[in-house]
Amino acid sequence: ATPVFDPAKDAAAIAATKLVQPGMKLGLGTGSTAVVFVHRLAERVKAEGFALRCASTSKATAELAQSLGLSIETLDEIGWLDLTIDGADEVDPALNLIKGGGAAHLREKIVATASDRMVVIADDSKVVDQLGRFPLPVEVIPFGWEATRLLIERGLAGLGYGGRPVERREKGGAPVLTDEGNYVLDLKLEAISDAPALAMMLSSVAGVVEHGLFLNICSMAIIGQKDGTVVELG
Ligand code: A5P
Repeated sequence: ATPVFDPAKDAAAIAATKLVQPGMKLGLGTGSTAVVFVHRLAERVKAEGFALRCASTSKATAELAQSLGLSIETLDEIGWLDLTIDGADEVDPALNLIKGGGAAHLREKIVATASDRMVVIADDSKVVDQLGRFPLPVEVIPFGWEATRLLIERGLAGLGYGGRPVERREKGGAPVLTDEGNYVLDLKLEAISDAPALAMMLSSVAGVVEHGLFLNICSMAIIGQKDGTVVELG
């Protein structure tokens, strides 16, 4: 039986399934909203019996998709995708995003940028005027990560941001590991005034693998409301 989903996430997910055409090469996102989408997509594929080729942004999504009867291939087997549907932690009016709350933003960015189109599905709590309230995730290589953190802290100070990047840990205290075996630092910035400058600074630090700013990647956002309606941005 289909689980009971949050109505806003479900509304966005159901609307997104309507963008999927038979035979498409599709990227599947990660997170609780992407989970709803994968369920709704699997239902539609089962009901209509069409073929799809899917690549996943995480092990978790791949396992879920396969358990629901969707076949998963690697991005390299598929090559290039028509469409990626994924969640987001924040969406601004220009459709720039913060992602990585689930520590999957590296693969998410690779999959999204290997797609003709990336569409975000989210509930209305994710829509912001300015990015930054949600701590910005940065995936870093474990080797020398304390030095990497220091360099990020200095770079942030140079851009006028205070604060120390916080290493993301499991409840037991072990560092959270990404699917690539890396660590995640969370940057508490509150308000990001110049996202491209911040992105450039972060990408210039040795040891940074990928940050969670998705700038000019998303082409549409489907925002679900509690009453089950959706608003499309972009
Ligand atoms: C995973 O790393 C994230 O980028 C998710 O896409 C993001 O955290 C959204 O997740 P929810 O749909 O659970 O809010």
